[in-house]
Amino acid sequence: MADKGQKKTGSEKNTETEKTKLIPVYVMGKKYLVPETLTIMKALEYAGYRFIRGCGCRGGICGACATVYRKPGDYHIRVGLACQTVVEPDMYLTQIPFYPANRASYDFEKLSANPEEIFKLYPEVFRCIACNSCTKACPMDVEVMDVISAVKQGNIEKAATLSFSCIQCGLCVSRCMGELPQYHIMQLARRIYGSKIAPRAEHLNEAVDAAKSEECRQALEKLMKSDVKQLREIYKDREIEPEMAAEDWTPVRRDYL
Ligand code: FES
Repeated sequence: MADKGQKKTGSEKNTETEKTKLIPVYVMGKKYLVPETLTIMKALEYAGYRFIRGCGCRGGICGACATVYRKPGDYHIRVGLACQTVVEPDMYLTQIPFYPANRASYDFEKLSANPEEIFKLYPEVFRCIACNSCTKACPMDVEVMDVISAVKQGNIEKAATLSFSCIQCGLCVSRCMGELPQYHIMQLARRIYGSKIAPRAEHLNEAVDAAKSEECRQALEKLMKSDVKQLREIYKDREIEPEMAAEDWTPVRRDYL
């Protein structure tokens, strides 16, 4: 993130002409006036910062925009995603685009589904003091401490299921007194569960077979031989899943699958 000063862009001037109320926020100690309706991420850009790192999907999915802030008169340190959290008057904030956490290296193919594998790679899992700070820090409402407990109990399935919504933002690690790398541990649990414990999904096998089929190869070849105009036509003509589709919705046309 780089500070480019308070120079106004066209869209910023438009925002001002719409008479949106401006509120003060403090970014790394410096005061800026920003529209009260903006998320922290947009407010930082309004203030003249440009994101080089610490920004990805802008939709609460990628976990790149961890932010830490404090509200006036409140001793709590708060955390959240900059792309999802709306600014509040006089908040003090900064971005933590990356939080260093120990990441074990392993050859996944050689790992078994035995929980001992996780204990060997991440012995610090037993440093958890069950303070629950990790859970309180999670912007995705993952019960992080419960996941760590499940890992310690050797219940990889439970750990994987409970941590399904983790977006790897690292905020749990930033608050952990035991210095655990929770998000790496949870990710390993999900990998082991998905690859070595969960039953094989038949529909996935079918999809893999379809991807390897001659029909699919020919369809891809046809696409590769198409020019830009033809590709645009194919794209415009594609069958789109309706917004309110039933859970078992599948496309009627299968010729391009
Ligand atoms: S930018 Fe991806 S979660 Fe905020």
